[in-house]
Amino acid sequence: MTQFVCQPGGSVAGQLRVPGDKSISHRSIILASIAQGSSHISGFLQGEDSLNTMRALQQLGVPIEREQGEVSVNGVGLRGLRQPTADLDMGNSGTAMRLLLGLLAGQDFDARLIGDSSLSSRPMQRVIQPLQSMGAVIESEAGGRAPMQIRGGHALQAIEYAMPVASAQVKSCLLLAGLYAQGETIVHEPAPTRDHSERMLRGFGCNIQSQDGEIRMQGNQDLTACNIDVPADISSAAFFLVAASIAGAGDLRLQHVGVNPTRTGIIDILQLMGANIELSNQQEIGGEPVADIRVRNAALTGIDIPANLVPLAIDEFPVLFVAAACATGITRLRGAEELRVKESDRIQVMADGLARLGIETEVLPDGIIIRGGEPGGGEIESHGDHRIAMAFSVASLAASEDICIRDCANVNTSFPGFAELARQAGIRISIDAG
Ligand code: S3P
Repeated sequence: MTQFVCQPGGSVAGQLRVPGDKSISHRSIILASIAQGSSHISGFLQGEDSLNTMRALQQLGVPIEREQGEVSVNGVGLRGLRQPTADLDMGNSGTAMRLLLGLLAGQDFDARLIGDSSLSSRPMQRVIQPLQSMGAVIESEAGGRAPMQIRGGHALQAIEYAMPVASAQVKSCLLLAGLYAQGETIVHEPAPTRDHSERMLRGFGCNIQSQDGEIRMQGNQDLTACNIDVPADISSAAFFLVAASIAGAGDLRLQHVGVNPTRTGIIDILQLMGANIELSNQQEIGGEPVADIRVRNAALTGIDIPANLVPLAIDEFPVLFVAAACATGITRLRGAEELRVKESDRIQVMADGLARLGIETEVLPDGIIIRGGEPGGGEIESHGDHRIAMAFSVASLAASEDICIRDCANVNTSFPGFAELARQAGIRISIDAG
C-alpha cells in the first residue's frame, strides 16, 4: 500500500507547472472523439481518471494516439461510435462515468459502465433519472449505483431540466445526451458550476447558449474537430497555493493555470483568509482563461466561507480545511453536503484526519467548523481519496511531527508525479511503496 511520509516544516519556493486540468481533459477527449476530423490535444492530463475516459473511447472504436500529454484523436462523428466488446471501466472517476453515461444513452448499441468500490458507491440517480425521462434505458444496482447497463437503440427526446444539485457533471451528461436528442435540451443550474463543456462545445462549432443559469442546445449538431491546449489544473495548483501560504517562507510561481471564473473559488476564499496571491499574464486560450499565479506566505485568518463560493471551490475543500487548520480563529463551511459524496466523505474523513493532528472540528451535516491551531503529527487514513492524501501532505509544512498518510495510490488519478513536484517545491515528502 502506497504511503506518503512527510517530515514537518520546510519552505516552498520556485516555479512549477502542475499537470493538465482533469475536467477539461475528460471533455477534450470525448468531444474530439465524436467530432468530424482530427483534433490534437496538448497538455492532456496523464492521470488515471482521464486515461480511463480515453481508453473507453478507444474501446468505442475511436482511433486515438497518445505520446505523453500530446493526444491525436481521429473523430468518428456523432454517429460513428461502435459497440464495445468489454465493460468500460471508469476506475475512480465520477466525471468519466457520468459524462460517458450521457454519451452512451443516445447510441444504438448496448454498453456497461463499471468502476472501483468508491465509484460503485457514489450516487448515479442524479444522471439516470433525467436521462430516463429523455427516453434512455439504463439498469443500475440498487439505489442507482454502478455498474450500469445502458440499452441502446432508444431515441432520445430533449428535455428541460432544473437540476436539484449544482453539478457540472449532471449538466455535461445531459448536454452530451442532448447532442443525440430530438429538440432543444434546456438545463437550469441552481448555482453556477464549471462551464468547460459549454465553452468547449462552442469551440467545436456547436451552437449553445447560456445565460443566467440556463443552458440551451439543439440536438443533432455535428461537431467539427479543433485543437485544444489544456491549461494546468487549478484544483492541483490549489495544494501549492495553500502550501506556499502556510509555509514558514513561501514564494511560488505556478505557470499557465486555468482560471475559469467557475473554478477560482479557491483563490477568492484564500484571499478572504488573508492569502497573498497575484495573477499575471492573463490570457484566453482556446476559450479558457489562463494565468500565472504567484503566491507568498501570509498569516491566514479563519472566515465564514461565503455560500456562493462553495460550488466554485468544491474540489478544493480538503486543502482549504488544512488552510483553516493553520489559520488564526474559526472557519465555518455550510451548504457543502456534496462533499459527502465525492471520492470519500470528505467532511468526515478530513475531520478524522485533522483530529489525529490535534485540530478541533465540529462536523455538520452540510459542512464543518474548524478551530485553527498548530497541527501535530500522526497517521492519517486517506480512504483512497487523492485529494485527502495531498491535502495532508501540505499540512506537514505547518506540523510539529511527521505525518504519515496511508492509501495514497489514487493520487495518480488526478496528479501523477505529485510527490516529486511537492518535494521539488519544498515539502519534505517521500513515498513508501509498502
Ligand atoms: C467535475 C465536476 C464536479 C467536481 C468533479 C469534476 C466535472 O463534480 O467535483 O471533480 O469535471 O464536471 P459535480 O459536478 O458533481 O459537483
